[in-house]
Amino acid sequence: MILAHLYEAPDWKEYRMDTRDPHRQLEPAAQETERVEAALQALVTAGILPHTQYDHQRFLAHREAVAARFDIPWTAITPRMQRLLYGINAIRQPRTMVATGVFCGNTFIANAGAAVGPGACYQAERLIGVEIDLQEAQRAERNVRHLDPEGRAQIVAADGIPFLRQLDGRIDLLYLDANGRDGKGKSIYLDMLEAANPALADGALVLAHNSINSAASLADYLGAVRDPARFRQSVNVCIDGEGLEVSLFVPA
Ligand SMILES: C[S@@+](CC[C@H](N)C(=O)[O-])C[C@H]1O[C@@H](n2cnc3c(N)ncnc32)[C@H](O)[C@@H]1O
Repeated sequence: MILAHLYEAPDWKEYRMDTRDPHRQLEPAAQETERVEAALQALVTAGILPHTQYDHQRFLAHREAVAARFDIPWTAITPRMQRLLYGINAIRQPRTMVATGVFCGNTFIANAGAAVGPGACYQAERLIGVEIDLQEAQRAERNVRHLDPEGRAQIVAADGIPFLRQLDGRIDLLYLDANGRDGKGKSIYLDMLEAANPALADGALVLAHNSINSAASLADYLGAVRDPARFRQSVNVCIDGEGLEVSLFVPA
């Protein structure tokens, strides 16, 4: 049996951003909040999150700081997705969060912003962003340092697969967004999941960006996280054209 839970916002097919103008508001604020609240509620119903409450003012402070201080050449993280990632982290409060394929750091801070900067609502032990492209890793480092001058969040210039394989300690939340080279594309997510597997804590969340627009190349990954022998629950959250697969890990 395959777990195939789906949450679809009524308008996800029409909700589109300009990837070079990521801070532009795409809808009334109340509608964005409501769409994300409904997605969080679907995760509660699936038993993935305990509740839907997060501090909306802190989130807006986080968003404002990213818009003011980050150098973002482009991003496919929509305002809804930014809020959803922040909300999941603020609610779950992972001690250790690892994100791979963080590019300029925007995806990383959408997760880590619940623990550092003006949106911080808890203290994490480790927040690590991994990026294989040295120049982008350096840009991510500069960006993240604006919000986290104390250096609590860490950007590592490395290949995420050996990095995850050798990671010492447990992971409470793993965010996947790498786009593999040499035709590998998003199918690299499964390699990353296998590399991280020994470190994933019981009840860890695994978040995979592009569950909709890259569903074909993610077929093997989606098969793994929707296999009830490996994951307790998995929900494909369709709030925009990219999507986010949210999966709850249970060790075999
Ligand atoms: C397309 S970008 C992600 C962008 C993000 N979705 C956004 O909208 O801002 C994917 C990133 O994964 C990185 N990447 C590819 N393979 C990787 C690997 N093995 N380890 C770490 N990062 C990797 C690429 O260099 C690239 O910066």
